[in-house]
Amino acid sequence: MTQNDGDDYAFETRQIHAGELIDAEANARVTPIYQTAGYVFDSFDDGEARFAGRAGRAYSRNDNPTNAVASRRLANLEGGVDAVLVASGQAAIAAALFGLASAGDHILTTDSLYEGTREMFRGALKRQGLNFTAVAADADEETWLAKVTPRTKAIYTETIPNPLGDVVDLERLGRIAENAGVPLVVDNTVATPYLCRPFEWGAHIVIHSTSKWLAGHGAVIGGAIIDSGRFDWAANAERFPQLTTPPRPGVGSFVERFGQSAYLAYLRTVIVLEYGPTVPPSSTFLLLSGLETLSLRMERHVDNAQAVAESLVDHPAVSRVLYPGLPSDPHYELGRKYLPSGAGSIVSIDLRGGRDAARVFFDALTLVSRMTHIGDVRTLAIHTGSTIHAKLSEEERLSIGIVPGLIRLSIGLEKADDIVRDLRQALDKAALVEGD
Ligand SMILES: Cc1ncc(COP(=O)(O)O)c(C=O)c1O
Repeated sequence: MTQNDGDDYAFETRQIHAGELIDAEANARVTPIYQTAGYVFDSFDDGEARFAGRAGRAYSRNDNPTNAVASRRLANLEGGVDAVLVASGQAAIAAALFGLASAGDHILTTDSLYEGTREMFRGALKRQGLNFTAVAADADEETWLAKVTPRTKAIYTETIPNPLGDVVDLERLGRIAENAGVPLVVDNTVATPYLCRPFEWGAHIVIHSTSKWLAGHGAVIGGAIIDSGRFDWAANAERFPQLTTPPRPGVGSFVERFGQSAYLAYLRTVIVLEYGPTVPPSSTFLLLSGLETLSLRMERHVDNAQAVAESLVDHPAVSRVLYPGLPSDPHYELGRKYLPSGAGSIVSIDLRGGRDAARVFFDALTLVSRMTHIGDVRTLAIHTGSTIHAKLSEEERLSIGIVPGLIRLSIGLEKADDIVRDLRQALDKAALVEGD
């Protein structure tokens, strides 16, 4: 089954077969790890043709058969035309934006995002000359469009923002992006294509940290960028000259040469080739093994998360459970629209006793791992204010909803009763701590 001819198969079948490669040497059923830096050129002319992209592969920095299988599979599962794999989710975000914007350019973002992303936007990418403006996801269209300048190159968001779970209205943002003449870039890490496929709602580019649910076992770091092929670069030619003007005399523009895949071709042959954020094929082998069971794991992840969220709402130590699968959650309706098969498996809780209660709760966990990471088979907990958000002032943390007692849980695949038992015994201890 190739990337595109499997579209009449169900997700569960495509996660195992789409884009597969039967190795020519041994007919190995499982995609081999092509652990090689380069590929032999048959001749002088073959070397020239490989470098020009007319034949075979030239070098593993941006082109490896194991990585190509996972790229095709992810593109298939998201409903895109093409994908490129990189070394981490952070690398995917940076590469995606380097493919769209250069120094002096501007990106609009929603205001609730993974803090590592926010940190990169206000740190490393800002130092490279990119400017970011955060807008409330539910701000009206006029507010969004008023922030668009001729140098705005994208709108950036997350399907289920980490850690608050404040699901965004993708369809509305997709419309706003179209009206602004820029692509909507969506980090779909927390939803995965099993729960939500942002291209069906108007997104143009999807990025993933494949380190999380896609690989699933907490054993690898990786990232991916997937292109829907739907953004009309030619209609917005002045904004995206890297795609719409010839790179040198006598060579067609990326749009002329690659059509719908122009952006991904640019990422692969310019951004990834030049910056080199290569993911090792050995990591991709583990990603492929994980992907084969994605649907099964996600069903269990969301069932467990729902059970945990419901079981914690009434605990006296907990003032609030943030989970868009709870009818009481302000993002429940958006969750129902965009996540009909389950609201993901990040459950955040706010402890009444603030930071002191969070410390007692955290130290009392026995089954649940104290760890930064999400989307593992194991249930993980972290106090984000003292770790992921520690570089922010208390005031900054409060302004983005990171209250002192906030604990992020990534609900794993253990038996739900066991997860709940561990969380509740730790909460019982935290309940003894006086509130701030
Ligand atoms: C939503 C989201 N996007 C991107 C990343 C970055 O991914 P990675 O750790 O693979 O670099 C993370 C990491 O936690 C994340 O939660």
